[in-house]
This record gives sequence, C-alpha cells and structure tokens, in this order.
Amino acid sequence: MIETTETSGAHSPLVFSGMQPTNTLHLGNYLGALRNWIKLQDQMPCVYCVVDMHAITVAQDPQALAASTREVAAAYIAAGVDPKRSILFNQSQVSAHAELAWVFNCVARMGWLNRMTQFKEKAGKNRENSSVGLFVYPNLMAADILAYRATHVPVGEDQKQHLELARDIAQKFNLDFGAPDFFPLPEPVIVGPGTRVMSLRDGTKKMSKSDESDYSRINLTDDADAISQKIRKARTDPEPLPDSIEGLKGRAEAENLVNIFAALADTTPEAALAPFAGAQFSGFKNALADLAVAKLTPLAGEMRRLLNDPAEIDRILKDGADRARAITVPVMQEVRRLVGFVG
Ligand code: TYM
Repeated sequence: MIETTETSGAHSPLVFSGMQPTNTLHLGNYLGALRNWIKLQDQMPCVYCVVDMHAITVAQDPQALAASTREVAAAYIAAGVDPKRSILFNQSQVSAHAELAWVFNCVARMGWLNRMTQFKEKAGKNRENSSVGLFVYPNLMAADILAYRATHVPVGEDQKQHLELARDIAQKFNLDFGAPDFFPLPEPVIVGPGTRVMSLRDGTKKMSKSDESDYSRINLTDDADAISQKIRKARTDPEPLPDSIEGLKGRAEAENLVNIFAALADTTPEAALAPFAGAQFSGFKNALADLAVAKLTPLAGEMRRLLNDPAEIDRILKDGADRARAITVPVMQEVRRLVGFVG
C-alpha cells in the first residue's frame, strides 16, 4: 500500500504516469516509478502511457522509436501493469495530449519554463539549436496528466519540478477561465528508497539512459552476467560499510547501493544495511547482485516473450488508446467551451 495525499476538490482519484521510449529502461525507471505504478493499481484506476511525443523533442530514428515504444510497453506489462485493469497506450494515439498542450502553451509563462532545470541540463550549451518542443515539453507533460484530470502522479525525484509546473498550470487555467475546480492540482507520488537511483560509476550523477557508459546503469534487458558484473564493478570507497545509515552521509556510492538493495528487497535502508554493518563491500555486493538477478531477470525474460508477438502489443496499445480517448473526450469538450472555441 502506498501512502497518498488527498487532492483538493471533488475529483475522483486517478493515477497518470508515463515514460519516454528512448533507449532501454533502466533500474532507476523501475525503482523510481514503475514499481510504484504496479502497487497503485490496487488502490485507484491507473492510466500508464508510453510518451512517444515527448521522445521526439530530440531527434529519433523513426524505426527505433517504434521499436522502443513496443519495448517500453512490454516492460510495463512484464513489470506487472495489467492492461485489462489499467489503461496502457502510447501518447500519439490520443490527440487530446497535443490539443491540450497547445492551450497550456498559452497559459504557461515563459518565465516559468525558463526555470526548468531539466531543459537547462538537456539543452546545455546548445540552447539556440534545441527544438522548441524541448522547451515546452513540461506543458505537454501537464497536458498528459490533466487531460485525464488525474490526481496522483507516481514518478522519480527528477520529475518533481515538472509536476509543480503542472500544478501551476492547472491553477492558472482554473483562475483564468473562471472554473475554480475544473482541473485538480495533481499530487506527486515520490516514495520509497529508489526515488533517485544514482549512476554506478559516479554517485553524484543520476542513473540515466543517456550516460555514455553502459556500466553506469543496469538495463531492464540485461542478463544475469551483465547485472552481476555491473554491480561487482560499481564504484565504492575504501571504508567498510558503516553501522548505521547516518554513516552513509557523504559516501554517495555506498548510500546508492544500500538504497538500491532496500528498494529491490522492499525494505528500508536501515534494514538492508543491518546484516552488513562493518563488513567489506565484496559480500554486500555479492548479495546485492544475487538479489538484483532474482528480481530483474524474470522481467527481462517476460519482456522477450512479449516482444515475440509485436502485433499483440499493438493490439493492447490500441485498446488502451480507445479507452484513454473516452476519458479525454468530455474533458476536452469542456476545455473548448471554457476557452471559447465554437463547435
Ligand atoms: P523519463 O522517461 O525520463 O523517466 C521515467 C520515470 O523514471 C523516473 N526515473 C528515475 N527514478 C529514479 N532514479 C533515476 N535515476 C531515474 N531516472 C528516471 C522518472 O522520474 C520518471 O518517473 N517527463 C517524464 C515522462 C512523462 C511523464 C508525463 C511522467 C511525460 N509525461 C506525465 C508523469 C506524468 C520523463 O521524461 O520521464
């Protein structure tokens, strides 16, 4: 059971979340978000999206994008998203996302978007040459959530600022169009020890799909050998493990491995550390490798099985898109009326 905050207003609880189909999903995506998605299915209706329109904010090879969209859908299902209970689809099949994003482009302020740290990180020195889509990406993310009037959004720590922006957009829309409670202010659900999984090579950097070193991350498609090797080679410091979690402060790599252990074992960092207090890293790493292999390899196997039948994945995505559209149609009708669009 995941503790969730109640949202203001009279909106029925609904979860929305999504992941970009760019490269393979990794342990950070799994522990920060996907695992919580699975649990939330027992608590409220859930809508889970493969956000292919977000992916094209940077250049994508069309064939690779299509393959990656199916792969991410397979990862959702393999991890436990039930496409019958929850709605699973890819964003580009439901036009409400793009339509509402345009309205939000006209609600959000330049100053708000200028503050987004992820744009600064992604654009880097190449700001002038970034796509306009990359800059307004958070508006599309707000549209994803609010087209369903979703109340809860399970994500990793790095999406917190984007969610604050989604709340600001919802609030300004409600105010500007005289509809005080039209959109809910969506609550981030950022819970558990895996909300910010760090690189295995550098404990100060987030584990990321775009890191050039494959040893920095564990991909959900890695086999047992790759997982074990990456954990054994993970950077640590020369000290033994501390007696308590306070002793992990200032030891980013050690703290990261303990958090990963706790998240995979579904326990607290304190409980994960206790049996290894004062020990060298080698024994801890062996246990962590065994745990990661036990938890992750069945998922990779199930993904491979699902990907053998891409037509079935496409069928699931289409069925999900039909159900998703049915939720967005009345919301968009009301948005059009509030904004003053005729017809
Ligand atoms: P994306 O595709 O970068 O990541 C997908 C999810 O994985 C989480 N995550 C992590 N969690 C812990 N540690 C890490 N190292 C780590 N790396 C990634 C992310 O926080 C995210 O939850 N903008 C979003 C996708 C999106 C979305 C939405 C999310 C589009 N529309 C609407 C929620 C609601 C993104 O790029 O996530």
